[in-house]
Amino acid sequence: MQRKNDHITEALKQSFTPNDFDKVRFEPVLLPKVNIDEVDLSTEYCGQTFPGPIFINAMTGGTDKAHAINTDLAKLAAKFDLPMASGSGSVVLKETSAIESFSTIRAHHPQGFVFANIGADKTPEDAVKVVELLNANALQIHVNAPQEAVMPEGERDFTHWAANIQAMKAAVNVPVVVKGVGFGMSRNDLLELKSLGIETIDVAGSGGTNFITIENARRSYPLDGFAGYGFSTVESLLEAQSVKGVEILASGGIRNAYDVVKALSFGANAVGLSRFFLKLVIDHDLDQAEPILDTFLSDIRKIMALLGVKNVKELQGLTPILDPSLEAFASR
Ligand SMILES: Cc1cc2nc3c(=O)[nH]c(=O)nc-3n(C[C@H](O)[C@H](O)[C@H](O)COP(=O)(O)O)c2cc1C
Repeated sequence: MQRKNDHITEALKQSFTPNDFDKVRFEPVLLPKVNIDEVDLSTEYCGQTFPGPIFINAMTGGTDKAHAINTDLAKLAAKFDLPMASGSGSVVLKETSAIESFSTIRAHHPQGFVFANIGADKTPEDAVKVVELLNANALQIHVNAPQEAVMPEGERDFTHWAANIQAMKAAVNVPVVVKGVGFGMSRNDLLELKSLGIETIDVAGSGGTNFITIENARRSYPLDGFAGYGFSTVESLLEAQSVKGVEILASGGIRNAYDVVKALSFGANAVGLSRFFLKLVIDHDLDQAEPILDTFLSDIRKIMALLGVKNVKELQGLTPILDPSLEAFASR
């Protein structure tokens, strides 16, 4: 349980600047022929149409602090009709007293789209339980081997994870999203998930919350020099370019509306933010958080209009300009 609070404390200490989104630009449009108020932010994934392209990505559950955070996040999600993920439900499988820190999400976002969340080390029965607990609309399965390896008390055996993912997918009757936790995905990873029958993948790259740094802070002897492990979110989205037939979501290091626009331009159907929302509800009352989020969404619309696009489909048709290091990565 203490681990959950440690994650929140350590995540809040991190800074996301700079990251690879700073290496992406667009051709400017001098005369954009778009009315900002007519930009359509709606998008589709997991078999549904959503009014906007962002969602609150998985974070927490299991402690009093997590309960308060999930309650605020759910209220915000309800107000803005945002999909929201719970943190990993594994704690509930062990401690029934933790249930309310999760069920508060459904209580405060009764009509909303809610993702349950579970690790790839768990069983199909566990997956069904966490979906039922939240009456969830979809299940996120997180795949976090590097975090487990660095975590003092983490998993050691990854041999069954691919089979577990397949079994969980077969067991639940809601759409499944496989996500990382900030180490990104290669083309081979994406193809492997596709071959396991996964239709929606959140590439969850580096550049944002860094779980090696977080787990290192919890170790007596840190694993130095390892924090840069993995692919950034932009690199992972580049890897996804040639993988057809799966729905791509993006997360990891999204700091502002411009990052959202950039991630969508690489073909992501939606963009998940964790630390952004955590800070929003920790640093602000809901009354203060609401206009900040409202401005964030309206800025996405403004930037899209400036780029001359009227909807997410048109944005996905743009070709972002990469700096030389990303260009080299893209053609590796
Ligand atoms: C405090 C905290 C707890 C998290 N716990 C989970 C979790 O339980 N399950 C999960 O899939 N991801 C978890 N994540 C990872 C996020 O979903 C996301 O992949 C990662 O934070 C990168 O996004 P960001 O850069 O916007 O924070 C957590 C992130 C934070 C900040």
